[in-house]
Amino acid sequence: MKTNLLHQSPADIATPLLVVFAADTSTADSKNPTPTLLATSAALETAVTPWLTSGEFKATLGETFLLPAPAGLQAQRLLLIGLGKLDKPGSPAGVLGPLGWKLTPHELRKAAGVAVRFARPRTFRTLALTLPEHPALPAALSARAIAEGAILADFDIDFYRADRKDLSIQSLTVLTPEPITEALQTALTEGVILAESQNFARTLINEPGNILTPTELGKRTAAMAAEFGLQCEVHSIDKLRELGMGAFIAVTQGSPEPPALIVLRYEPPVAPPANSPVIGLVGKGITFDTGGISIKPADNMDKMKYDMAGAASMIASMRAIAQLKPNVRVLCVVCSCENMPDGHAFKPGDVVTAMSGKTIEIMNTDAEGRLVLADGLHYAQTLGATHLINAATLTGAIGTALGQINAGLFSNNDETTQHFFDALSITGEKFWRMPCTDDYRDQIKSQIADIMNTGGSRYGGATTAAMFLKEFVVETPWIHLDIASTTWLDDPKPWQSKGPSGIAIRTITEWVRSYAK
Ligand code: BES
Ligand code: ZN
Ligand code: ZN
Repeated sequence: MKTNLLHQSPADIATPLLVVFAADTSTADSKNPTPTLLATSAALETAVTPWLTSGEFKATLGETFLLPAPAGLQAQRLLLIGLGKLDKPGSPAGVLGPLGWKLTPHELRKAAGVAVRFARPRTFRTLALTLPEHPALPAALSARAIAEGAILADFDIDFYRADRKDLSIQSLTVLTPEPITEALQTALTEGVILAESQNFARTLINEPGNILTPTELGKRTAAMAAEFGLQCEVHSIDKLRELGMGAFIAVTQGSPEPPALIVLRYEPPVAPPANSPVIGLVGKGITFDTGGISIKPADNMDKMKYDMAGAASMIASMRAIAQLKPNVRVLCVVCSCENMPDGHAFKPGDVVTAMSGKTIEIMNTDAEGRLVLADGLHYAQTLGATHLINAATLTGAIGTALGQINAGLFSNNDETTQHFFDALSITGEKFWRMPCTDDYRDQIKSQIADIMNTGGSRYGGATTAAMFLKEFVVETPWIHLDIASTTWLDDPKPWQSKGPSGIAIRTITEWVRSYAK
């Protein structure tokens, strides 16, 4: 999708589909919606006012209303899209954005997605969106949100269907009421980079396990790295042996597919000052998780092709970082393999030695993600990482705790967690901090090794997994993102296809940028 900014009156643009946004400006407690156009154009007002007052369009979030051949406009169709309640300052605390309004650019991101998913099946290929005019929606943040929402909404999962139709939007114009500034252009470009990177991850996550093997993940990552100027190394079993990655080797040994240890490096154009942070991104890249000898039930096992979503989100974040060029060093370690049961597979009761030297008693071979991450997190530190973040589809238990709305965040460090929450306020993603304190340490105590790979009790399973990872980061500031229940959308949303969500990429990238000097 090509995106561009245009400083032109919406009435004057000749386009197949012109999109304008409206909010419900009634007060917080009002039951009578007041749909209000967020654009100052006399021609637009004349065209839409009858439909705003008739009660047919209430401006709820994502609501659409199409006007064919609108009088007084050059556009062939006018599409009104609701942004939901605006709310005045003075509304109940806790529901307002940083600018004091309930309406934020996050709603606009969704509404721009609705525009695209409205346009696609109706075979529109070109659309123009008017940048809304309201202090709740600052222009730069809005332009970025529109680009993100539109590009994310243009993604679909039907790659392997013979009857697939290319419905993609070719051109999106954002109409600005004010002259175009450099800041506005930069914001739009950033939105494009972030959303395209997120879609890159979604494509990887959607790939079936027979196609996206660890070797193939390595190849696609190397191709991406060459395109965007990142250093890339892809190693296999010999390197795992050389490094003594006993935990990673245990998981891969039951599969005939070779593992891939992928290392990406981003060097900023200007060298950062000495002793600056080095950010380490670590991803769980299980391209298929059968559970191994502790085999999973057949129901839903097909979903375990997406057990590499953590790896995809880190690779995609590197893709965005390479283009946004923050002044901070970043490295990325991906541990990719299959978890299969066969005669060579690791078994419950086995004891393995991780790269850090810690011994692990295997209680359940389905708790394999934490094993590959243990070696990945340790290796990232040996490569110089001073701040760590990992993402993983790690536990079913995180879904029991948080459902499919929030993903889980675990950390050993309040300061870096605050950086992440600041990033969330920009990206609009949802993560909830979960406990990861030493009170839970007893759950992974083993009688015969340093630790066990699952908890003694079935309670607090997501925290048990986090406590296991914490053993391998020791004092390094670290964040663990458990994205198991938020990686795959079972039902489509008006702004998003069913399938891989691509969660965490925009926020990880923003978190990395917060360390730029
Ligand atoms: N890949 C799974 C976790 C998962 C579950 C991801 C559902 C996405 C959706 C992970 O490797 C796993 O199997 N975890 C076990 C851990 C248990 C054996 C302690 C789980 O959550 O059941
Ligand atoms: Zn598993
Ligand atoms: Zn897994």
